Amino acid sequence: MSTVLMLITSTGVVLAESDRAGLVLSTSYGGDMKECLDCHDANQAREVLRTPHGMVGDARTPLAGKGCESCHGPAGEHANQPRKFRAAISFNQDIVMGAADQNAVCLGCHKGGQQKHWHLSEHAKADIACADCHIVHTYKDRVRSKNEQAQVCLGCHQDQRANLMKYSRHPIREGVVTCTSCHEVHGGKGDGMLVEMTVNETCYQCHAEKRGPFLFEHEPVQDDCTHCHQPHGSVNDNLLSARPPFLCQQCHIASRHVGTNYVTGNVVGNNRLIGKSCTNCHGQVHGTNHPAGMTFRR
Ligand code: HEC
Ligand code: HEC
Ligand code: HEC
Ligand code: HEC
Ligand code: HEC
Ligand code: HEC
Ligand code: HEC
Ligand code: HEC
Ligand code: HEC
Ligand code: HEC
Repeated sequence: MSTVLMLITSTGVVLAESDRAGLVLSTSYGGDMKECLDCHDANQAREVLRTPHGMVGDARTPLAGKGCESCHGPAGEHANQPRKFRAAISFNQDIVMGAADQNAVCLGCHKGGQQKHWHLSEHAKADIACADCHIVHTYKDRVRSKNEQAQVCLGCHQDQRANLMKYSRHPIREGVVTCTSCHEVHGGKGDGMLVEMTVNETCYQCHAEKRGPFLFEHEPVQDDCTHCHQPHGSVNDNLLSARPPFLCQQCHIASRHVGTNYVTGNVVGNNRLIGKSCTNCHGQVHGTNHPAGMTFRR
C-alpha cells in the first residue's frame, strides 16, 4: 500500500477510489519505458530495473520485451491521459481484475520450476495472487528473505503466529528454519503443500537419523511424525502434541503394562513420574538397533 501511495504522490496526482473505478482500460501499447518513468519517477517504480526482471540483456525478462507493459499490459492511452485511462493490468489492490487473471501474467513466463503445480495449490484455490506474497518492484522481496519470510505468511496465517511464540518450536523466528523448509507454497507434491510427498520425508531432510533403518521400528514413527509432534510449536517439550504418559497412552492401553496414570491418585511420588515419564525407561522411542531393544529401552 505504501508503495502505491508514494508512487502516486510522486506524480502529483491522486485519484479518488470512485474516479479510479471509472477509468477505462488502455488497449494499445505505448512502447517507451522512459515515458512511464517520467511520471512514475519514485524509487519504487525504478527499483524494478535493478531486479532480475530488469535485466534487459536477458531476452527472457519483461524489460527486454515490452518493458513495463510486459506485466502491466497495454498502457498507451494511459500514458497520454492518465486521468481517463488506466494500464490494462494492475496488481494487488486492483478493482477490476481478479487474482487468477493477474497471476496469468506471471505464469506466462513462470510456468515451469517451482510454479508448475500452482493450479493445484491451496493458494490458487483460495484466489491468492502472486503479488500477495511477492513484491516485484524491489530487489528485497521479503518473502524470499529467510528472516522476514514468516512475517509475510503470518499476515494471513494467524494461528501459526501463536504457534511460533510457544515454548517448544522450530527456530523460524531466528531464520534457521523457514516455512518453505517444509512447505512448497506454489503447490507441493503431497498434502499440506509439503516440499516432499509425505510428512516423514519432509522431516528426514534435516532429521535424517530418525529414518533408520532400525532393527526394531516403532510403527507410528515410520508412519507419520505428527502422531506425536506438532511441527509449528507446542507447550510441551520437544514439540510433543501431548505430555507423556498421556502421549503414549493414546495408543497404549494403560490397563496392561504400568497401568497407572502417573499424575493422579496413589502413585504420587512414584519415581517413574519424574520428568520424562514413559521415556525414562523407553528412551529410544524412534526405534533402535540394539539386539535387546524390542521395547525401545536401549
Ligand atoms: C503523464 C503521466 C503518466 C505517464 C506517462 C504514465 N502514467 Fe501510469 N499513472 C499516472 C497516474 C497519475 C496514475 C495514478 C492513477 C490512479 O490514481 O489510479 C498512474 C497509475 C498507474 C498504474 C496503477 C494504476 C492503474 O491501475 O492503472 C500503473 C500500473 C501505471 N500507471 C503504469 C504505467 C505504465 C506502464 C506507463 C508507461 C506505458 C505509465 N503508467 C505512464 C500517470 C502516468
Ligand atoms: C516476460 C517474462 C516474465 C514475466 C511476465 C514475469 N517474470 Fe518473473 N522472472 C522472469 C525472468 C526471466 C526471471 C529471472 C529468472 C532467472 O534469473 O533464472 C524472473 C525472476 C523472478 C523471480 C526471482 C527473482 C530473483 O531475485 O531471483 C520472482 C520472484 C519472479 N520472477 C516473480 C514474478 C511475478 C510475481 C510476476 C508477475 C507479477 C513475474 N515474475 C512476471 C520473467 C518474467
Ligand atoms: C504464499 C506466498 C507465495 C505466493 C502466493 C507465490 N510465491 Fe513465489 N515464492 C514464495 C517464496 C517463499 C519463494 C522462495 C522459495 C524458497 O525459498 O524455496 C518464492 C519463490 C519464487 C520464485 C523464485 C524461485 C524460482 O522458482 O525460480 C519465482 C519465480 C516465484 N516465486 C514466482 C511466483 C509466481 C509466478 C507466483 C504466482 C503464480 C508466486 N510465486 C506465488 C512465495 C510465494
Ligand atoms: C514483473 C512484472 C512487472 C514489471 C516488469 C513492472 N511492474 Fe509495476 N507492478 C507489478 C506488480 C506485481 C505490482 C504490485 C506491487 C508490487 O508487487 O510491487 C506493480 C505495481 C506498480 C505500480 C503501483 C500501482 C499498482 O498497480 O499496484 C505502478 C505505478 C507500476 N507498477 C508501474 C510500473 C512501471 C512504470 C514499470 C516499468 C518501469 C513497471 N511497473 C514494471 C509488476 C510489474
Ligand atoms: C494473502 C494471504 C496468504 C498469505 C500471504 C499466505 N497464505 Fe497460505 N493460505 C492462504 C489461504 C486463504 C489458504 C487456504 C485456506 C487455508 O487452508 O487456510 C492457504 C493455505 C496454505 C497452506 C495449506 C493448508 C492446507 O490445508 O493444506 C499452507 C501450508 C500455507 N498456506 C502456507 C503458507 C506459507 C508458508 C506462506 C508464506 C510463504 C503463506 N501460506 C502465505 C492465505 C495466505
Ligand atoms: C518443520 C516443518 C514445518 C515448518 C517449518 C512449517 N510447517 Fe506448516 N505444516 C507442517 C506439517 C507437517 C503440516 C501438516 C501437513 C498435513 O497435515 O499433511 C503443516 C501444516 C500447515 C498448514 C495447514 C493447517 C494446519 O495447521 O494443519 C498451514 C497453514 C501451515 N502449515 C503454515 C505454515 C507457516 C505459515 C509456516 C511458517 C511460519 C509453517 N507452516 C512452517 C510442517 C511445517
Ligand atoms: C530445515 C531443517 C528442518 C526440517 C525440515 C525439520 N526440522 Fe525439526 N529441527 C530443526 C532444527 C534446526 C531444530 C532445532 C535444533 C536445536 O535447537 O538444536 C529442530 C528441532 C526439532 C525438534 C526438537 C524441538 C525442541 O523443542 O527441542 C523436534 C521434535 C523436531 N525438530 C521435529 C521435526 C519434525 C516432526 C519435522 C517434520 C515435520 C521437522 N522437525 C523438520 C530443523 C528441521
Ligand atoms: C511415538 C511418538 C513419536 C513419534 C511418532 C515421533 N517422535 Fe520424535 N520424539 C518423541 C518423544 C517422546 C521425544 C522426546 C524424547 C525423550 O523424551 O527422550 C521425541 C523427540 C524428538 C526430537 C528431539 C530429540 C531427538 O531425539 O533428537 C526430534 C528431532 C524428533 N523427535 C523427531 C521426530 C521425527 C523426525 C519423527 C518422524 C520420523 C518423530 N520424531 C516421530 C516421540 C515421537
Ligand atoms: C499413534 C499410536 C502410538 C503412540 C502415540 C505410541 N505408540 Fe508405541 N506402539 C504403537 C504401535 C502400533 C506399536 C506396535 C505394536 C505391536 O507391534 O504390537 C507400538 C509399540 C511400542 C512398544 C513395543 C511393544 C512391543 O510389544 O514390542 C513400546 C515399548 C512402545 N510402543 C512404547 C511407546 C511409548 C513409550 C510411547 C510414548 C512416547 C508410545 N509407544 C507412543 C503405537 C503408538
Ligand atoms: C520403570 C521403567 C518403565 C516405565 C516408566 C515404563 N515402562 Fe514400559 N516397559 C518396561 C519394561 C522393563 C518392559 C519390558 C517388559 C517385558 O519384557 O515383559 C516394558 C514394556 C512395555 C511395552 C511392551 C510390553 C507390554 O507389556 O505391552 C509397552 C507397550 C510399554 N512398555 C509401554 C509403556 C508406556 C506407554 C509407558 C508410560 C505410560 C511405560 N511403558 C513406562 C519398563 C518401563
